[in-house]
Amino acid sequence: MKKVLVATEKPFAKVAVDGIRKIVEGAGYQLVLLEKYKEKTDLLVAVADVDAMIIRSDKADREVLEAGKKLKIVVRAGAGYDNIDLTAATERGIVAMNTPGQNSNAVAELAIGMMVYAARNLFQAGSGTELKGKKLGLHAYGFVPKFLATIAKGFGMEVYAFDPFVSAEKMQNDGVQAVASIEELYSTCHYVSLHIPANAQTKKSINYDLLAKMPKGATLVNTARAEVIDEDGLQQIFAERTDIKYVSDVAPVCHAAMAEKYANRYFSTPKKMGAETEEANINAGLASANQIVNFLEKGDKTFQVNK
Ligand code: 3PG
Repeated sequence: MKKVLVATEKPFAKVAVDGIRKIVEGAGYQLVLLEKYKEKTDLLVAVADVDAMIIRSDKADREVLEAGKKLKIVVRAGAGYDNIDLTAATERGIVAMNTPGQNSNAVAELAIGMMVYAARNLFQAGSGTELKGKKLGLHAYGFVPKFLATIAKGFGMEVYAFDPFVSAEKMQNDGVQAVASIEELYSTCHYVSLHIPANAQTKKSINYDLLAKMPKGATLVNTARAEVIDEDGLQQIFAERTDIKYVSDVAPVCHAAMAEKYANRYFSTPKKMGAETEEANINAGLASANQIVNFLEKGDKTFQVNK
């Protein structure tokens, strides 16, 4: 009997696990659950004899993939797959997939919530500001920013985006204005929301020079990845400008220092929670299970990311 491992240090909601089980068992496979594990060795043991694995931000590095002696497919229930060693997966003939779009609305809702939180002085006393009439810049234009644009327009914001991989026409069709450069996005917008993946090109790319371009009272929102921020640059701009705010769902390494010095304009969630809704768990979890069954039964490689 084929085995499907769900390895989630940050578990799915029970209703999502129930749905995954139904799909997996319905296909005649066995579901193996490894939730809230503390040690990597637990994952190495659990992956040893399974055919497929569903993960979230759990690291599927070379050691994990090599420990999966029978592993044929790993699905990241979510968008970003920087936690999978794609080279190692390809070398071992393991198909890696993500589930694009499935948890995006949850992340977009958190991003807008964090913008309100920043606009209202992190819920501390004193007059805040409104989102209405302000300019929102979307750094990249995939599923999350597309949802975010719709919500932000409901708030009466003007929405701009920079994404070299998406046409201006596509953005315009969504009522979003394309800008020609990253610099223009940062110098134009009161709020910039990050939606770039973490890779060799983007790591530390949000640096001092870019942040220094932001208008007075600007807020940077990060529901993407911590690694894209140049933390020296972030700390430098915070020391120089008392008007800039940073709200993050992906805590920087310098979190403790930032939280201590800038409690009135810096905030990070204690644990990444953008995709932490029952709906997102169900969408991404069930999509992952279906993708595994379709791959193992029919060889369907839609959503493969290590081609
Ligand atoms: C994603 O890439 O899909 C999000 O960052 C969500 O990550 P999570 O599954 O660890 O919450």
